[in-house]
Amino acid sequence: MARSVGLVEAHYSRSDLGAAILAALKEAGKDLDNLTPDNLAPVDEFHGGQRPATVRLAELVGFSGSERVLDVGSGLGGPSRYIASRFGCRVSGIDLTAEFCRVAEMLTRLTRLVERVDYRQGDALHLPFEDMSFDVVWSQNAAMNIADRDRLYGEMRRVLKPGGRVGLQEVAAGPGGEPHYPVQWSREPKTSFLLTQQETRQKLEAIGFRVRVWQDTTEEALQAARARARNVEGPPPVLGTHLIIGDDWRAMFRNSARNLEERRTELFNAVLER
Ligand SMILES: C[S@@+](CC[C@H](N)C(=O)[O-])C[C@H]1O[C@@H](n2cnc3c(N)ncnc32)[C@H](O)[C@@H]1O
Repeated sequence: MARSVGLVEAHYSRSDLGAAILAALKEAGKDLDNLTPDNLAPVDEFHGGQRPATVRLAELVGFSGSERVLDVGSGLGGPSRYIASRFGCRVSGIDLTAEFCRVAEMLTRLTRLVERVDYRQGDALHLPFEDMSFDVVWSQNAAMNIADRDRLYGEMRRVLKPGGRVGLQEVAAGPGGEPHYPVQWSREPKTSFLLTQQETRQKLEAIGFRVRVWQDTTEEALQAARARARNVEGPPPVLGTHLIIGDDWRAMFRNSARNLEERRTELFNAVLER
């Protein structure tokens, strides 16, 4: 397990990521002194469906603004900054990849959200937070890198207040067989741990969550992935998640669409209550 955690961090790490994003923002004509979360959305929403998917999940969770939120596997921080700026929530992110946490902090400074958003480097299986300290636990496209789902969901439940909600967007195994690799979350099977939607739901319910919403979003994800895969022949956009991924982004974008098309992968949203 310790080994797979190291391999997952190595998969995501790219030492010049912050500089590459700043250079791309400048090239795209963004004003670095007045940067907004919306300016960053093409590059810092690192999951299927990007910002529109975050907006959809946030609507399902239904924030009032007073919630204390934890984002598990927070990446570069696009979703946490969106939740903080759109609803006024106080958000903490935790992510395994140290480089992502550093870039997330930099982007949060540049968007003037440090009062409301913070990040910690750490493992979702050992959340460094007190029991019952959050109103909402949020996680998008992180569980597929985590083998021990019982522990992951148990940790999410532990840090949630009674009556608190979990908002999840996850990649699931489909009936079509093993995914084609590389994909954005893994270049090989040994760091990819997909469960079917049914297996995931059973685990969540066994841990004590009540399912409030369960929504299969495979079709929407497929449309978005197809649109991206169609564009891989040309040069990449100035700002995009290819900056995070590295040289094999074309193969990953193609495989994402193909995996969804062949139902090797599925995508779902869920809102659960403790
Ligand atoms: C595909 S990215 C998604 C990032 C972010 N949730 C978003 O949607 O923009 C997956 C993230 O999960 C993180 N991750 C994977 N395994 C983790 C673990 N055991 N604990 C914490 N974070 C983890 C990775 O470092 C990576 O940032």
